[in-house]
Amino acid sequence: MSRLWHWSRRCSLVLSRQNSTLASRLNSITDADALHFAKVLSSPTSLLSILPSISTPPEELDIYNNDWMGKYRGKSTTVLKPKTTQEVSEIVKWCNDRRIGIVPQGGNTGLVGGSVPLRDEVILSLSNMTQVRSFDPVSGILVADAGCILQSLTDYVAPHNHIMPLDLGAKGSCQIGGNVSTNAGGLRLLRYGSLHGSVLGLEVVLPDGTILDQLTTLRKDNTGYDLKQLFIGAEGTLGIITGVSILTPPAPQASNNVILALPRFENVLPLYKTVKRQLSEILSAFEFIDRTAYDLAVKHGQGRALSEEDVEGAECFVLVETSGGRREHDEEKLNNLLESLLEADEPLINTGVMAQNPAQFSSLWALREGVTEAVSKEGKAYKYDISVPLSTFKECVDLTRERLRSKGLLNEAQVKAVIGYGHVGDGNLHLNVIAKAYTPEIQDALEPFVYELVASHRGSVSAEHGIGAMKTHALHYSKDETSIAWMKKIKAIFDPNGIMNPGKVLE
Ligand code: FAD
Ligand code: MLT
Ligand code: ZN
Repeated sequence: MSRLWHWSRRCSLVLSRQNSTLASRLNSITDADALHFAKVLSSPTSLLSILPSISTPPEELDIYNNDWMGKYRGKSTTVLKPKTTQEVSEIVKWCNDRRIGIVPQGGNTGLVGGSVPLRDEVILSLSNMTQVRSFDPVSGILVADAGCILQSLTDYVAPHNHIMPLDLGAKGSCQIGGNVSTNAGGLRLLRYGSLHGSVLGLEVVLPDGTILDQLTTLRKDNTGYDLKQLFIGAEGTLGIITGVSILTPPAPQASNNVILALPRFENVLPLYKTVKRQLSEILSAFEFIDRTAYDLAVKHGQGRALSEEDVEGAECFVLVETSGGRREHDEEKLNNLLESLLEADEPLINTGVMAQNPAQFSSLWALREGVTEAVSKEGKAYKYDISVPLSTFKECVDLTRERLRSKGLLNEAQVKAVIGYGHVGDGNLHLNVIAKAYTPEIQDALEPFVYELVASHRGSVSAEHGIGAMKTHALHYSKDETSIAWMKKIKAIFDPNGIMNPGKVLE
């Protein structure tokens, strides 16, 4: 056992050194490279470069070099927006031969700094690849270019009475290729499972430019290793996803939702048990926001506030959604649930507010979905997206707040608030620290503190957002040496020159 540990640790150290050496050996793109890309790309608008022969105004590259949170900033001189898989392949082959780093970019809504360069790598944006390739209304299988925006795919399948198996607050900007690359979870995972299950096939341009065609539409395919799984959640470090085949579920005939106000966090777990038992097959979401997160959502105009009376004495809120086949049946179940909760000898909830129409349904969802937006309006967010036992959600938030208080950082000028929200059904807490600005003092107070806390619960430092640039140093809190060593070996097989999203996921 100990020999194995030594071997894997040594192997990991060697591979680590190899990776950082590879990254430092990458070349900057030259004017000659930019002129070559201009020939490869079918449209002149597909190339933005501040290099002399193209001379795009530098500010036009800002949206590609800066991440959604305003936390990470790249120095790329060149953005390429190919229109076809063939164009992607030619670009990647050239970059591999010339040892130029590439950062694949979807909607740039990632929250871990994975979608922007660490240095001056080329940004390869999928935003010009937006065709639906096929949709089978019988099987519900959709094949689409990776650059399709999640909302536009939702709109595409809606008239066929299907929905996308995932939904998230960033749906208006994020792309299906980005969703697959981050293995995004979101608000429907409780019902439809992870993308590891619903993605049926992928088309990927490998780091040497080869096109790997695994774009199958088969539900069952046990023909050896399931290579596509490696790219789901690889965050662009193993190749560029250009096409996605995905199973879309039939649209529910009826959906409803209710916000429950709880007097104590300790009630969330028994409430979840009760709700699961009573709603069974129609339960489609069970989402949590603490009081501070709720107040922030309201403050920044996300959804309509509940009445004073409804929120009085509430320590936290749970949003329950049902999706089923018959409205009367589902409403009856939901009403029975509410009645039994309110009439219990020791009620788990103070009150429940049920949507009465589609506008209220969206407004209740906005209170939960809009927390991310509200946080970004309030300040700069340190986002910890962790898997921990549900019973420890509150403890994690409270201990982090206490830690910041004990360091004298909890005040309007430094850390304004520490909040918790997330996907209870998935054991996924979003612990957010909202600061006036990103500072080394706050960073040092939070890390490794938060990661050690997660490890003490044998949790995960990334439940759904990924590792990106933010957590490469923290991967070891959730993965052992052997696992990391094998991840590095896989990276080295696919991308021996280390051109693909350098410095992300693995150090
Ligand atoms: P990007 O941000 O552009 O990229 C993300 C990563 O994937 C990067 O490493 C990038 O290099 C890589 N990548 C992108 N496209 C490709 C491709 N075609 N091939 C290879 N690599 C690629 N995440 C959740 O899991 N659940 C949520 O509920 C959720 N809600 C969010 C709400 C908001 C308001 C925001 C801003 C973000 C949220 N996110 C959530 C985070 C984010 O991961 C998702 O928004 C989304 O999956 C990222 O997709 P994107 O197209 O923006 O990818
Ligand atoms: C969410 O659940 O709202 C998203 O994952 C985004 C976030 O963590 O803010
Ligand atoms: Zn989330």
